[in-house]
Amino acid sequence: MLKKDVLVIGGGMIVHDQILPSLYHLQRIGEIGKISICARHTTPLKSLMNSPSIKESFPGQFFISFPPLDTPEDKYFPELYKEAIKTLAPRQCVFIALPDYLHYPAIMEAFNHDQHVICVKPLVQTYKQLAEIEEISKKKRLFVGVEYHKRFDIRSLLARKNYRDGLFGEFIIGEAKMIEPYYYRHSNFQNWFTCDISDPFTYVGCHYVDIVTFITGLKPVGVSVVGIKKSFPNGNVGYMWSHGRVFYENGGILSVINGLGYPDMGGGSNQQGLELYFENKDCTSVLRHDDQFRGVSYSISEEKTEIRKNFYTINTDYFRLVPWNGPGLKPVGYGYTSIEELIKCVKKIDNIEDDRTRLEEIEKIDNLGIIATPKNSYYNELICECARRSILEDGKPYYIDYANYTLSSR
Ligand SMILES: NC(=O)c1ccc[n+]([C@@H]2O[C@H](COP(=O)([O-])OP(=O)(O)OC[C@H]3O[C@@H](n4cnc5c(N)ncnc54)[C@H](O)[C@@H]3O)[C@@H](O)[C@H]2O)c1
Repeated sequence: MLKKDVLVIGGGMIVHDQILPSLYHLQRIGEIGKISICARHTTPLKSLMNSPSIKESFPGQFFISFPPLDTPEDKYFPELYKEAIKTLAPRQCVFIALPDYLHYPAIMEAFNHDQHVICVKPLVQTYKQLAEIEEISKKKRLFVGVEYHKRFDIRSLLARKNYRDGLFGEFIIGEAKMIEPYYYRHSNFQNWFTCDISDPFTYVGCHYVDIVTFITGLKPVGVSVVGIKKSFPNGNVGYMWSHGRVFYENGGILSVINGLGYPDMGGGSNQQGLELYFENKDCTSVLRHDDQFRGVSYSISEEKTEIRKNFYTINTDYFRLVPWNGPGLKPVGYGYTSIEELIKCVKKIDNIEDDRTRLEEIEKIDNLGIIATPKNSYYNELICECARRSILEDGKPYYIDYANYTLSSR
């Protein structure tokens, strides 16, 4: 199969923690070609290039930097990604890891230069943008995949199988939570995670909205979200906490709490989990996923915050770099699997010569529903659009009309 070159746009936390190590490994095992990364300025690129954990894991590997690393750090190039895309041959892969509101223009730019797209979640901020992306991608036979990595957690896949085999019955009520660390407030988040742009529900709550539909196949039809505002260290105001109530097409309800506020002193890297109840044949069923205690805890300085904790619960499931039968360290976990599967899709489509069969292959991926694509995960855009309106209107519920793909506050 042809190797694809990959251009990552954005050089922040998710690139450091998951995307670059995954791509370096795929490069090392011969699955992809050159890797380049474009950020607005060189500061994050230098951090990536000099990251001790990345250097230790991938000795001798490097990426092409836009702008070049010797560019002064105070020089900003918000439009440079357009030039970086032009350096790719047609039908390579653009991996978008920008703040949410920049996904759409970057995807359009990638399409203008015939590039496949992998994008961190959420793909875009409106259903209208998503529909346009789907249409262009199909016309050009380009793959678009959304990196919803929780889908590749074995527990999600097993729950999907068991639900669809009828073992649980029908989802009726549940609760999900994902509280990200307090120290995020000191990161680049303070520059873009403002009330007008994002909130914890659309940032991380969307993972569980996606997962509940991934498991059950039930579409969300409405949501009410309330938020609590606090100031970032730089004075910008953001919603630091949110509570959402999601309504499903069968009358089911999911309560979702989110925040940027898991204590830095706390025993985990964040707090997350899911509990779902089901109506079954003359009984009920339950699925409980405590995603905090994974059976391993350490008493060492916590890796990221360097704060000394008595016990620190280790997440061995999402993403870890571990020794393997090769140089450096190897990425493992569903964060890696998700990227590996997305890259496989890009290659699979372009391994087909015939235009119609290429389209059929893209549609096959849509229909299987394991990889999130615009066609099979559009409910996420609709629910996030409702959520944004709702939180800005203090929790007024918004509903989706799936016949017309419109929203209302009926
Ligand atoms: N669990 C998940 O799936 C998950 C987790 C974290 C982040 N994300 C998503 O990843 C995206 C980025 O999040 P992050 O945490 O890495 O944010 P971040 O703020 O750490 O990084 C954003 C990066 O984008 C770069 N950037 C901004 N404007 C740019 C421009 N015009 N051109 C080039 N680069 C530009 C910045 O330099 C920075 O490197 C968001 O969409 C977020 O929702 C997903």
